[in-house]
Amino acid sequence: MISMKKHLLLTQLALCAGFALASLSVQAADVQGSAKAGQGKVWLCVGCHAIPDYRADYPFVYKVPMIGGQNAAYIASALSAYKKGERKHPTMRAIAGSLSDQDMADIGEYYAAQTAATPPNPLK
Ligand code: HEC
Repeated sequence: MISMKKHLLLTQLALCAGFALASLSVQAADVQGSAKAGQGKVWLCVGCHAIPDYRADYPFVYKVPMIGGQNAAYIASALSAYKKGERKHPTMRAIAGSLSDQDMADIGEYYAAQTAATPPNPLK
């Protein structure tokens, strides 16, 4: 009888974990970015990425990459790599850590829409 109860409990736990995982992966696959929504989310980024040739000097001198015009999926996946710690830059890790998958997708679309032909834009 005791082992029967234990077995039931384990089955329930396994089911819960399975559901949690399933809903997580559905969320990640369904995210659709919007450049318009992204425009309201890049205020955090312009301090560094909008300045041509700007070099961040913490933790050591770094050339800040231009992200305007890069591929949206690339930008979103770079942000997610910082968030997960696969990319190590400390400032970018801190910033990406505050972004949701939706934010990353929106920001990716926003920056992808900025090209050399885009008129001067303070948020570029
Ligand atoms: C304090 C300055 C600073 C701020 C603020 C900042 N970044 Fe960065 N970002 C950097 C630096 C420096 C790098 C290069 C780090 C490295 O080499 O890993 C970088 C790298 C990146 C990359 C990778 C580019 C590539 O070519 O692989 C992306 C994407 C990015 N930032 C997006 C953002 C977004 C989006 C925001 C705002 C939510 C933001 N950054 C805010 C300094 C900053």
